[in-house]
Amino acid sequence: MIYSPSAWRYLFLFVVVLPFAVAAREDAWQPREDNAAWRVECSGCHIAFPPALLPADDWLDIMSRLDKHYGVDASLEPKLSREIAAYLERNGARSRMFGSREEIPRITTADWFAGKHQGAIRLWRKGKVKSLVDCAACHKGPDIEKMIGK
Ligand code: HEC
Ligand code: HEC
Repeated sequence: MIYSPSAWRYLFLFVVVLPFAVAAREDAWQPREDNAAWRVECSGCHIAFPPALLPADDWLDIMSRLDKHYGVDASLEPKLSREIAAYLERNGARSRMFGSREEIPRITTADWFAGKHQGAIRLWRKGKVKSLVDCAACHKGPDIEKMIGK
């Protein structure tokens, strides 16, 4: 069966074409620019979320009230905070599609996130995943490293 021409065509699709398709899609989340301060200061409590996953103005909103950061104080000295805000603004999403309607913007409450994470949200509702914010629970190894541009 595997030797029939059409079976080979499918095999080609899965083995040769699809990995490229997946790699190309992951690349889209990689920041074009790196920033050491962002990587250090924003990865202490969760991963340093990829800048492309929120619009620039949402990042500025988050950065302008780090003292009231989702219930914790994540304040930084003004110089560091300005540097990181500028970096996130330069590399933030240009599309409002990435926006969310929360009072403090979130990646995990944006419509695109829900669309991509239907299975994940089901697991979370059943209590099988502690928090959707823990991206690394599901995006492991090279996947998450690519996403955050390591
Ligand atoms: C002191 C710990 C701490 C530091 C440092 C910190 N955060 Fe957070 N962050 C949190 C907590 C707690 C939450 C809420 C997690 C939850 O809802 O499960 C959060 C949530 C977020 C979210 C929303 C995640 C979602 O639900 O989509 C974003 C975006 C975010 N942080 C960005 C940043 C940025 C940018 C920095 C660096 C300037 C930073 N954080 C530094 C503790 C921190
Ligand atoms: C419970 C598991 C789970 C958690 C937690 C989770 N994800 Fe995902 N994520 C997935 C799965 C599964 C997919 C693939 C869905 C698909 O391909 O349609 C996905 C897809 C994505 C995509 C789209 C990839 C693409 O190329 O289309 C991005 C970006 C993403 N996740 C980012 C995140 C971020 C950022 C977090 C944390 C704030 C997160 N995910 C938390 C399971 C998870």
